[in-house]
Amino acid sequence: MSVPARTTVAIIGAGPAGLLLARLLRRSGIDSVVLEHRDRAYVEQRQRAGILEQGTIDVLRECGAGERMDREGLPHNGVELRFDGRGHRIDFPSLTGGRAVMVYAQTEMVKDLVALQLAEGGPLLFEARAVAIEGLEAGQPSVRYVHEGREHTLACDFVVGCDGFHGIARAAVPSDVLRTFDREYPYSWLGIMADVPPSSDELIYAHSERGFALLSMRTPTVSRLYLQVPNGTDPADWPDERIWDELDLRFAVDGDWKLERGPITSKSVTPMRSFVTEPMRYGPLFLAGDAAHIVPPTGAKGLNLAAADVVVLARALARWHETGAADLLDAYSDTCLRRVWRAEHFSYFMTTTLHPDPAQSDFDTRLQLSQLHRVADSEAAAAELAQNYVGSPFE
Ligand code: FAD
Ligand code: DHB
Repeated sequence: MSVPARTTVAIIGAGPAGLLLARLLRRSGIDSVVLEHRDRAYVEQRQRAGILEQGTIDVLRECGAGERMDREGLPHNGVELRFDGRGHRIDFPSLTGGRAVMVYAQTEMVKDLVALQLAEGGPLLFEARAVAIEGLEAGQPSVRYVHEGREHTLACDFVVGCDGFHGIARAAVPSDVLRTFDREYPYSWLGIMADVPPSSDELIYAHSERGFALLSMRTPTVSRLYLQVPNGTDPADWPDERIWDELDLRFAVDGDWKLERGPITSKSVTPMRSFVTEPMRYGPLFLAGDAAHIVPPTGAKGLNLAAADVVVLARALARWHETGAADLLDAYSDTCLRRVWRAEHFSYFMTTTLHPDPAQSDFDTRLQLSQLHRVADSEAAAAELAQNYVGSPFE
């Protein structure tokens, strides 16, 4: 593939943020180049999120990337909160004016966007690692990157860091400009994929004194389950039988519900953190997605926040491209941060309400249960949860 030495927007990272941004820019007639450190197979198989908010669903449809999602994705109209031996359903459409979510794996969304980009989009380079962002102060930005053993320079009007939490873009902002907000949690998730039909049609978020558990799914025949575990847990210490036995205890409910077991095909441990960078822009450099913010996974906001950021940025760049006006670019950081902090609060609320902290007292546990009862009993409290879960419309 021939790669130009200059483009309008240099995008670092081909995760959901970078790929969706490239697609949206293409639709507005703006050229871009996407540089991705990893190879295509790695990017397409990295197991991560599974829940798309209404806004993410809508934007994928609008940009012509929703066809397989609409065929294979599983629309979900509610979730169950399970605690004190009982389940309580939260109905999304009736509490949110008709909004809902979709189970469609991040891997599948990424595959769809990669295929479209390679067929119709601008250059997307795999195994192209960005090593430096230069010329930001001088207003002549460029990205230096290594591809096939050689170093290249890509000059551009804008650089967008979609390179995730461990990328290089955030570090290109001088530390006296950047403010970060950080919180770590004293537990992690052990996530498994299992070849067994999900034991519930809808997700189950379970609070138990033994720890949190989540039942999710990827397809009608593949279950995705998570267990709260201590930080530093080695998945090798969790043989399959131990995982299923522990899930049984945490999902225990009055009545005859049963968790079906099946072959476990993958196990991994994810630590939890909350992290926000302010501002999300430095001159011609913009940060989007995990490069700018991280949420703990309870509530499934990470991928959806990444999508929301690039929708805001694509609109701002389209306006600049059409009219020369920079007002929406100037508003980018503030516009995104309002949604980011709402999602930070919701993810923190879901996490701290559903996970027993190893150091917590019985008093703290009673408060968690009181909050869960409140959501179960009060339509106002349930609506608050449902509206945050399905997400507000993008812009
Ligand atoms: P990423 O998906 O991280 O993409 C960044 C890309 O940039 C990567 O492909 C990386 O290879 C590339 N890159 C990095 N550095 C460079 C460089 N120097 N040069 C070129 N390319 C570079 N969210 C949920 O909602 N639910 C979940 O269950 C969930 N589980 C998760 C599990 C894990 C282990 C992790 C890490 C995240 C999880 N998330 C989950 C969060 C969600 O997956 C992320 O919010 C989402 O991937 C963010 O997309 P992104 O495009 O911003 O970043
Ligand atoms: C999934 C992940 C989440 O963090 C969540 O809240 C719901 C579902 C999932 O991977 O399916």
